[in-house]
Amino acid sequence: MKIMSKLILITLTVLFFSCTQPSTSEVMIIPKVQKIEQHEGFFKLKPATSIVYQSILHNEANYLFNYIDRKTGMQLDQTTDLQSKNAIVLNIDTTISNTEAYDLQIDNKTVKITGKTPAGVFYGIQSFMQMVQQQDANSNYYIPAIKISDEPRFKYRGMHLDVCRHFFDINFVKKMLDVMALHKLNRFHWHLTDDQGWRIAIDKYPELTQIGAWRNSTLIGHASDRPERFDSVRYGGFYTKDEIKEVIAYAEKLHITVIPEIELPGHSQAAVATYPYLDCFDQQLEVWNKWGISDGAFCAGKESTFEFFENVLSEVAALFPGEYIHIGGDECLKNNWQKCPHCQARMKAENLANEHELQSYFVQRIGKFLNSKGKKIIGWDEILEGGLAENATVMSWRGEEGGIAAAKMHHDVIMTPNPICYFDHYQANEANEPLAIGGLTTVDEVYGYNPVPIELSSNEQKYIIGVQANLWTEYIATKEHAEYMLFPRLCALSEIAWTFTENKNYENFKRRLVNHKNTLELFDLNYKPFN
Ligand code: ACM
Ligand code: ZN
Repeated sequence: MKIMSKLILITLTVLFFSCTQPSTSEVMIIPKVQKIEQHEGFFKLKPATSIVYQSILHNEANYLFNYIDRKTGMQLDQTTDLQSKNAIVLNIDTTISNTEAYDLQIDNKTVKITGKTPAGVFYGIQSFMQMVQQQDANSNYYIPAIKISDEPRFKYRGMHLDVCRHFFDINFVKKMLDVMALHKLNRFHWHLTDDQGWRIAIDKYPELTQIGAWRNSTLIGHASDRPERFDSVRYGGFYTKDEIKEVIAYAEKLHITVIPEIELPGHSQAAVATYPYLDCFDQQLEVWNKWGISDGAFCAGKESTFEFFENVLSEVAALFPGEYIHIGGDECLKNNWQKCPHCQARMKAENLANEHELQSYFVQRIGKFLNSKGKKIIGWDEILEGGLAENATVMSWRGEEGGIAAAKMHHDVIMTPNPICYFDHYQANEANEPLAIGGLTTVDEVYGYNPVPIELSSNEQKYIIGVQANLWTEYIATKEHAEYMLFPRLCALSEIAWTFTENKNYENFKRRLVNHKNTLELFDLNYKPFN
């Protein structure tokens, strides 16, 4: 080669690499990984790259194929032939300790994603895909050489969605599962029954969704506005069992467990509107059209109430494969119980001192029934009042006190304290925001939260199994609005759920969050703008 053309080649090579190398060597993954070593060099992701996988990882290989296609337009070969060059290799290594941990090793030739289980490999894929960013003029991607060892801080990393106050179809639910997976969240808490609508089809009680899923009007404006105003629009919707099975199967592929919530003994009005015998006084009520705490509760005295729940929960337990069923337990007003002869007779017969103990009787009886079906219950922290059911997991929402008390009693706890984890709160100055229930929960407040209270001893701390964000939808009627309330706060939540406290850093998170817009946009999310 002549000197001149050699020089040109060298110049071009230098230019090429200075254009294609990432401008910063910082690896931008949300939630932040626990351990990372950065090495020299790059892996080139190109159309000839193959995905090589052990056959048990077929689902993960397929997921990776689709994600790369979505992000780059490349449709890579998938093979179980380990000889492939320039490959992304998915492997199981049972010597890894945590079931959700993974190693991600990237060098010039291969990307190796190794987990103890398919879930670990799946999370390695999530981290890898967030690194696919730097593109050259030929549409190849350059991914920096690194070695990541990562594992979650908590085993329960949740998001809740209320589909009762406003209904969201399964396409939206699937989209939310997709974005939970991107953030390594693994529990979807589906709030399926409440005063304003019963959303799950039950074969034995078809009227629950023929009647209980529909309300004749809905409050306009804020619940505190006076005078109250209502529209006159019939509103509702529900999921068939086939739709629910479709969501469960979809979630399973994303390593997400779906936890249904069937509310009792309060938040009863949609069911009572369908079957008045569930009420203490057989009142004929309508599916509720307001927000707040309704007056009624399921009658805790009549045997027919328990027969109803045993039938409903038998179907629910058969439908959902996960270990947990959430039974609600929150905000149960006891006015009717105090006056109801059936409830009072029950209290006498069971030697219960007050209505709190009657609530505890209700929850414990249902808990035992679900245990007999191989399920464990989760309840909001009111289930502590009057005595906690055996095996029950407590979801601490009225602050952390309930969670602290339950952990001290050696019950599992999921932290979801109202000031931090309620994403129906305003996320900025309310004058510039769409109407919300109230409160103010900013991204940095979410980020700063540590779900393990310092009041707990190291042994008690082990009972804090995780953290969850809740999206109540009284004031959220559309998918776009739901996404707006979730993002970017859910990104911060994912980091408190996944990343050990010592590896967190808010300034660093903010930089990664700006970079993370490309992921939020790739999945077509209507996030609240930030910079
Ligand atoms: C709740 O927010 N009532 C659990
Ligand atoms: Zn009663």
